[in-house]
Amino acid sequence: MALDIERLRADTPGCANLVHFNNAGGGLVPRPVHAAIVAHLEREMMDGVYAAAKAAEEDIHDTYVQCAALVGAEPSEIALTDSATRAWALAFASVGLGPGDRVLASRSEYASNYLSFLHLQRTLGFGIEPIPADEAGQIDLEALEEALADRHVRLVALTHVPTNSGMIQPAAAVGELTRARGVPLLLDACQSVGQVDLRSVQWDLLSATGRKYLRGPRGTGFLAVRSAWLDHLTPPMIDLSGAHWIGPDHYELVPGAKRFELWERSVASVLGLRTAVRYALELGIEPLEARIAGLAGILRARLEEIPGVTIQDRGARRCGLVTFTVDGVPAEMLRDRLATERINVSVSSAEATLLDMVDRGLDQVVRASVHAYNTEAEVDRLVSLITWG
Ligand SMILES: Cc1ncc(COP(=O)(O)O)c(C=O)c1O
Repeated sequence: MALDIERLRADTPGCANLVHFNNAGGGLVPRPVHAAIVAHLEREMMDGVYAAAKAAEEDIHDTYVQCAALVGAEPSEIALTDSATRAWALAFASVGLGPGDRVLASRSEYASNYLSFLHLQRTLGFGIEPIPADEAGQIDLEALEEALADRHVRLVALTHVPTNSGMIQPAAAVGELTRARGVPLLLDACQSVGQVDLRSVQWDLLSATGRKYLRGPRGTGFLAVRSAWLDHLTPPMIDLSGAHWIGPDHYELVPGAKRFELWERSVASVLGLRTAVRYALELGIEPLEARIAGLAGILRARLEEIPGVTIQDRGARRCGLVTFTVDGVPAEMLRDRLATERINVSVSSAEATLLDMVDRGLDQVVRASVHAYNTEAEVDRLVSLITWG
């Protein structure tokens, strides 16, 4: 069913204030999400934080149910975190890599993930191998299949939607290959969650953030861990919520992915995340994807008509991130100029996806990331301001 854009905009007070094309940085929070957060903060102020959390127990549990529904998991397979990076790093560090082990990745991995590779490689001594991109810029599936034949491969890490491109990596095909080999797939779904259906992907570990396409609060995210892998992973740190201290020298991890969580967290933010995920699920991920990809396609087509503008998105299937360069105009200058017109776009610089940007000889790209609440009139406004050059 088509989305009711008027309703979406009415739910999004920020729309009246600016043209927000930085949803890949952080989506505009809708009213129900804001209301859920504020209501819990009020309860904390009036009743004390422990009593407020007790009263919210069912809703807190429902956050796991909603996140699980979003990615095709069981609620017990979800651990709530404060960011996608935290979720990803927890998963990566829990694999138990050592000398001789190989980790395969794409050439479009996000900087923070790759920094974790490099950092832990120093002490653990495993090997990291970025699989080449094919002609469309996507991970080369044949090269991946060949590399997977080596039994020393212990993990495949894939960023589903790179931070610097509208490309959607062929995660379903990658998942088929990894599943056939019994190698876990760690999927960074940070940019795809909320705009791309994740239920059909055979991920084993998945990291997601709350604040981007889900439009939840900052400081939220989650890790999903397939139960089949749970006992093969060692959480890099635990506390009294992830484990029970059962004897002077003994502890027992709690069942399920909650062993990856720490006890302290912002309950108001958790409830905000719950509301954001419910909001997205009620709208439907399929209609959201169709609307977002459709609007992004219109923006790309309009930008391509402007002399000097080059669309930098690759991949056979694309989503709401639209990246481009303008001859002779630095990306930061364009971003700042648009900001004076109350249009938010962002800049993705080489360091954020170093391998891919160096491969393509790019320093920076402008990133205009659309969401379902954006309109064609807003696209026109952005395009008219770029035409000025
Ligand atoms: C592909 C990708 N992965 C991970 C992250 C990190 O997400 P978070 O800031 O929630 O840790 C980002 C942030 O932009 C991203 O684009």
